[in-house]
Amino acid sequence: MIVIAIANQKGGVGKTTTAVNLAAALAMRGKRTLLVDLDPQANSSISYIDVRGVERSMFDVLSNGTGLGEIVISSPVKNLFIAPSRIALAKLESQLVGEIDAHFRLKDRLDKVAGDYDFAVIDTPPALGLITVNALVAATHLIIPVQSSYFALEGTDDLLETVEKIRSRPNPNLKLLGAVITLHDKRTTLSRDVQKAIAQVFGDRVFKTTITRSIRLEESPAHKESIFTFAPQSSGANEYYRLCEEVIERV
Ligand SMILES: Nc1ncnc2c1ncn2[C@@H]1O[C@H](COP(=O)(O)OP(=O)(O)OP(=O)(O)O)[C@@H](O)[C@H]1O
Ligand SMILES: [Mg+2]
Repeated sequence: MIVIAIANQKGGVGKTTTAVNLAAALAMRGKRTLLVDLDPQANSSISYIDVRGVERSMFDVLSNGTGLGEIVISSPVKNLFIAPSRIALAKLESQLVGEIDAHFRLKDRLDKVAGDYDFAVIDTPPALGLITVNALVAATHLIIPVQSSYFALEGTDDLLETVEKIRSRPNPNLKLLGAVITLHDKRTTLSRDVQKAIAQVFGDRVFKTTITRSIRLEESPAHKESIFTFAPQSSGANEYYRLCEEVIERV
């Protein structure tokens, strides 16, 4: 199973939008895909399912012995399964402090279902705490969404430093699959400058596909659909499809 963590401790950079639509694209390509929602805000879960009906969530999986298989829900998309989050997940970090396996909880649980899926895509919260560290320890690959804005690279150093620490001990196999530029506006010179600055930091690890700003991408979660069924002809659908192609080529 290929496990892709989508992480950036900066808020609102397109982590969830990328997780939700990349997972859908993989599923549509026939890959059995598990979308793991590790954000207490539960935005990726809400993008596909009604979370009011969810009794057990990733919180139970990470805090007690609940198996992933017990909480996974099928989504409206064929081949796409959701491991939902709930607000309770916000309590997790304080609960895990002092537990010897605190950083390995997700990895241990995912290992047990590795035979059931081709891909797991993990959406993480905008923080570099224990939840995101669990994602990076469990992941085989990391995608960093970077918003095309003046402050795009703020905090990137801290993120890359954390990645290096995780590589040096708990997860030497973690690969930076790439940085994807999101919320891009081709018309502005600022965006082009930012694109250059991002390329200086990430070099050939920047995905060729850039995700442009599109109202359709913003609207689709409210309809509980991926961009591919909500607006199949939109730029967002086209770009996330191409990003998925690049992901499959690179893994
Ligand atoms: N390409 C895009 N075009 C237009 N709107 C977008 C695009 N990508 C994301 N958005 C919108 O921007 C907002 C932030 O995106 P998203 O929720 O994916 O970011 P995030 O990094 O997951 O945020 P958080 O850090 O809070 O979890 C959302 O309202 C989303 O719908
Ligand atoms: Mg999010």
